[in-house]
Amino acid sequence: MCGIVGYLGKRNAYPVLIKGLKRLEYRGYDSAGVALLTENGDLRVYKTKGKVSDLESFASDKDTTGCVGIAHTRWATHGEPNSTNAHPHISYTGNLAIIHNGIIENYAVLKKQLQEKGIEFKSNTDTEVLVQLIEYVRTRKNFDLLTSVQVALRAVIGAYAIAILDKDDPDQIIAARKSSPLVVGIGEEEFFLGSDASPIIEYTDKVIYLDDKDIAVIRRNKEVEVVDFHNAKMNHDITKVELNLAQIEKGGFPHFMLKEIFEQPDCLRDCMRGRVNVDANNVVLSAIIDNKERLMNARRFIIIACGTSWHAGLIGKQLIENYCQIPVEVEYASEFRYSNPVINEKDVVIAISQSGETADTLAAIELAKKRGAFIYGICNAIGSSIPRATHTGSYIHVGPEIGVASTKAFTGQVTVLTMLALALAKERNTISNEEYLSLIAELDAIPNKMVELLEQGEKIKEISRIFTYARNFLYLGRGYNYPVALEGALKLKEISYIHAEGYPAAEMKHGPIALIDEEMPVVVIATKNVLYEKVLSNIQEIKARHARVIAIVSKDDVTVKNMADAYIELPHTMECLEPLLATIPLQMLAYYIAVCKGKDVDQPRNLAKSVTVE
Ligand code: G6P
Repeated sequence: MCGIVGYLGKRNAYPVLIKGLKRLEYRGYDSAGVALLTENGDLRVYKTKGKVSDLESFASDKDTTGCVGIAHTRWATHGEPNSTNAHPHISYTGNLAIIHNGIIENYAVLKKQLQEKGIEFKSNTDTEVLVQLIEYVRTRKNFDLLTSVQVALRAVIGAYAIAILDKDDPDQIIAARKSSPLVVGIGEEEFFLGSDASPIIEYTDKVIYLDDKDIAVIRRNKEVEVVDFHNAKMNHDITKVELNLAQIEKGGFPHFMLKEIFEQPDCLRDCMRGRVNVDANNVVLSAIIDNKERLMNARRFIIIACGTSWHAGLIGKQLIENYCQIPVEVEYASEFRYSNPVINEKDVVIAISQSGETADTLAAIELAKKRGAFIYGICNAIGSSIPRATHTGSYIHVGPEIGVASTKAFTGQVTVLTMLALALAKERNTISNEEYLSLIAELDAIPNKMVELLEQGEKIKEISRIFTYARNFLYLGRGYNYPVALEGALKLKEISYIHAEGYPAAEMKHGPIALIDEEMPVVVIATKNVLYEKVLSNIQEIKARHARVIAIVSKDDVTVKNMADAYIELPHTMECLEPLLATIPLQMLAYYIAVCKGKDVDQPRNLAKSVTVE
């Protein structure tokens, strides 16, 4: 959601900004823009609806000189996606340009007050209110820009990451954040800004991650100064980013999503490295060692997350309840935060988030913290807001995920939840040694089984071709594979725009069966586990209504293979680990169907990778 890039230094800013915006495209957006302080002292703003490439075409015959600039990709919240509402926005004097990620909640009140003072607005955005307010404070009170920003931000309610340029001061960019991420990159006599480190790493690995209510003053030939809204100095360490360019490029794959699907075996090896130790026969998570008493004595776990991470949470619930004998609740963060939940200091909240920036999950964490719960984060993006807001946690270590539809982060999250359940169960003595050892060996074998599964790519591609006609899909699974059905359906709707629903297989007869006919393909996860026979009956019921069945089956299965119209074979594993394998063919099915339909797989319409507004 909304990407921010900034540059101040010795290079031509425009190419750095455009490249930076492209690195942030994965976040999801519908318009783009850039503001430059050009060589002849002008403040030039170019913006367009559409992609960064549209912005490039638009600016191709314009003045793009200058060594200072800010740029933005906008995901529309207030006002439709068009070039007027696109950022940067300019103040009424024409001197200030602002870019903003987030939402100004009291924008309507502020806008009314400013309009009453005669200030005219050009766009429908909440962002324009901010730049007009800053300019109003500056001109009326004769304050410098920093003071004006501080005064204005004290009046603003909402979430934001902003960057501001001043036509009269070409050696400065001012940036600030509250609840939306912002990173400052520090090079040799040059500075960068980014919503995350991806637009920066090409030039420097030294960054400052801004905290909430930080204002960074970036000045040519000076050290970056960070102050708060009342001008108190904030001390920040310069951090080294552990991210390389290869990790954020496609590496020969047509889409990031396909690259990320195929990376999963390596990702899980990275995720388990030093944690699942087959030689020592143990599972070690430092967060559990460091917080043993707190976690061992938890009265209850509450998992909070959104989207795909919530599906991983549903699997986590089964793992923790089965192996640790501790009750677990799984809540949508967006519902939890407004639900007045009964929580106390005996509760442990597990917050799961790929991006570490999801606004609802962050707000839910703050609420749970206030009520005394201990917070355990499971995140991917290193140094993001959620890991910094939690008491402890485990990174999933699957590398940057760029495709909007989450793939490798899901299997990484499930792997961390499995390790957490095993390590805690061992401490609590709620798992037999035999089962613990077999799970360790089997977990360690999962990456190789994933490789075997990925070899069926061509077959899955063929199956996908047959089913692109469908307008609706049903996904069914039971037990550990019920959340897999939900995740499979979500993948399909996210990227192919085909309506799809996931259901626990036995619930089919309480509603979805009414929809089943020859037009509606049903994907059934029918592996040979304890519920196999029950799922077989569901397949009979589906076939009796002439629907086509795509089955995910165990390798040695005969019965389902004979009943299904198409099947994909899964290598054998223990039941609780099946989601790590069964999800992969569903990711591929969704991917190939979306490609066949000519959809923009990596940046599906209306979706954002990092949902920084509620
Ligand atoms: C967005 C993304 C999903 C993701 C969800 C939660 O909707 O498109 O892929 O699952 O946000 O994001 P998080 O970063 O908190 O896991």
